[in-house]
Amino acid sequence: MPPGLPHYELLREFRHDPDHHDLWHYAVQLDDNYVPKLAESSPPPLQPLDLAALFGSTDALEIEICTGKGRFLAEYAALHPDRPLLGVEWTRPVAWYAAQRLAKVKVPHHAHILWGDAQFLLRDRMPAACCKAFHIYFPDPWPKHRQRRVLQPDLLKQMRRLALDGCVFHWGTDHSEYNQDAMQLLGGTEGFRLLDPAAGPTEGIRTSFETKYIQEGRDIFRSIWAVEPG
Ligand SMILES: C[S@@+](CC[C@H](N)C(=O)[O-])C[C@H]1O[C@@H](n2cnc3c(N)ncnc32)[C@H](O)[C@@H]1O
Repeated sequence: MPPGLPHYELLREFRHDPDHHDLWHYAVQLDDNYVPKLAESSPPPLQPLDLAALFGSTDALEIEICTGKGRFLAEYAALHPDRPLLGVEWTRPVAWYAAQRLAKVKVPHHAHILWGDAQFLLRDRMPAACCKAFHIYFPDPWPKHRQRRVLQPDLLKQMRRLALDGCVFHWGTDHSEYNQDAMQLLGGTEGFRLLDPAAGPTEGIRTSFETKYIQEGRDIFRSIWAVEPG
């Protein structure tokens, strides 16, 4: 904690990766000595992203959180090249791999990868009422540290803030305990309504982890939820 401050927030920025057209970075700003910069106010005065400028489209956005190496997003972008799609992945080499995969999609598309933490991005930089679908597939289950899981009440709150009318949430995991907890959390959260308790892979696309888990003979749990704007 910096001396003299009861609370503080770090300054964050959103910038294009100069080496890759499809990759953006959402990160804490550092000074010349690589020390994180403090925001002058807390929370910092962050502006919502200009999605039309970023995606070259004013259509409603779809966000995939925990994109991994981007297999789902690349195949989905090929099926829906007109849709603005954002994949969020916080491990840099993995995000880089996903961006390279997107670059190989043969049709021109409107998909980008963001390297950064989904929780902060949704909370700090996404405008309200911009999103028509969320996708989270096979996130890390953290069986001993559940507080590290990506699916948390705060994330659901942000999903509702971003949701447009008719917004849906596609969920998938191989981890039965995480799935049980997710069903309970979603089912008990105002604004989330179960549409399909036994969904198949979205538009037939299996993710990389899902393919691996199926080969290992594990069960797969997928569901689709309506997200009411709120
Ligand atoms: C088990 S992998 C699954 C990847 C992909 N969805 C699939 O099914 O093949 C989970 C990924 O989520 C990423 N991740 C975890 N928490 C995250 C967060 N808060 N924001 C962005 N990415 C996150 C991890 O780095 C990891 O690559």
